[in-house]
Amino acid sequence: MFVLAFVYLKRVLTSFFIIDIMKTNIHSKQENIERHLQKPTIAIIGYGPMGRAFALNLRDSGYNVLVGLRKSSKSIESCKKDHVTYSSIEEAVEKAKIICMLCSDIAMKEVYDKYLKKIRENKVLVFAHGFAITYNLIKPKKNFDVILLAPKGTGKAVRDNYVNDTGTFCLMAVHQNASGRAWEYANELANALKLNKKGFLKTTFREETITDIFGEQAVLCGGVSQLIKYAYETLVENGYDKRLAYLEVLHELKLTVDIIHEQGLTGLWNNVSLTAKYGSLTNRDKIISKDVKNNMKRLLKDIESYAFAKSITEEFYKHYSKNLHKLIKEEEKSDLEKTGKVLREKIIEKN
Ligand SMILES: NC(=O)c1ccc[n+]([C@@H]2O[C@H](COP(=O)([O-])OP(=O)(O)OC[C@H]3O[C@@H](n4cnc5c(N)ncnc54)[C@H](OP(=O)(O)O)[C@@H]3O)[C@@H](O)[C@H]2O)c1
Repeated sequence: MFVLAFVYLKRVLTSFFIIDIMKTNIHSKQENIERHLQKPTIAIIGYGPMGRAFALNLRDSGYNVLVGLRKSSKSIESCKKDHVTYSSIEEAVEKAKIICMLCSDIAMKEVYDKYLKKIRENKVLVFAHGFAITYNLIKPKKNFDVILLAPKGTGKAVRDNYVNDTGTFCLMAVHQNASGRAWEYANELANALKLNKKGFLKTTFREETITDIFGEQAVLCGGVSQLIKYAYETLVENGYDKRLAYLEVLHELKLTVDIIHEQGLTGLWNNVSLTAKYGSLTNRDKIISKDVKNNMKRLLKDIESYAFAKSITEEFYKHYSKNLHKLIKEEEKSDLEKTGKVLREKIIEKN
């Protein structure tokens, strides 16, 4: 009886503790955020998917936005099309108090060293991903505020969710608080970008960077693509119709991902057939064995240490992305991709 009471008490306390942790870190939408930034110019360095989303959202929220681009930038046409003001990077960083660093992560050091190192005034640097700070590619001046607003979605989603007024969940962190107002700026910008409408999670640059890179390599992009490839090849090499193989291992993935996204893994098991449930729960260990977890631990170590950052930096600056382009080309030419292209154009999208 005593043991049972103890176990019960421990369970209750544990659940309180877990709920408490969740409560202290997740912040709900903030109302009535004071506007501290009196019509400042906000520079957006880079006009890729996230640069475009930040520029358009901030402009539509009433801020002066100036996109900074290099001379022969291929993004000039996009800026013109969006009626967004642009200039050289030099002019943008000089005019702006807030500088959103939204060029490629790997180019951050080059951009910082060339355009920001010489600046003396106090500035606010804003990042959408903590890569450059976590791996010390950039060591910002002591008089700069350094803020992270990392949306949990693509640039396209950040823009679409602004327009349809749903907002995008985001991770927020402050790396340097030189002015003492870095959190006020972070909150105001998140509000203007609709990144706090659904709530946000306070974190650190390092934690955001490591979990983000690990997630995309282990599951979201790396793990999932390899699983699809091996499953497709297994069916085709054993004589099954390529089109059926594609439909089963790739096309239908959206259905399960949507359920998992909305209802978690329990929701998945509640929504699939008895055969799928029994077969998957009893056989998944044979496919993704404990070895895979050991591989994941090794991958995490590479990301935590400088190993992965070093490898991507060398690929970009030493090999000019040659290996990456080769891998992308190989994937494009694969049988899976050819089958998918035909199926999507001729069958799936016609119905
Ligand atoms: N894409 C997403 O959905 C997403 C999601 C979450 C976080 N983020 C983060 O948001 C940031 C921006 O990512 P992104 O995907 O939008 O952009 P990206 O495609 O990685 O970068 C595109 C921009 O970077 C500029 N750029 C590249 N090298 C440069 C250099 N050496 N000097 C000056 N500019 C240079 C490009 O200029 P040109 O036009 O001249 O080529 C282009 O405007 C990154 O920190 C990324 O991790 C992105």
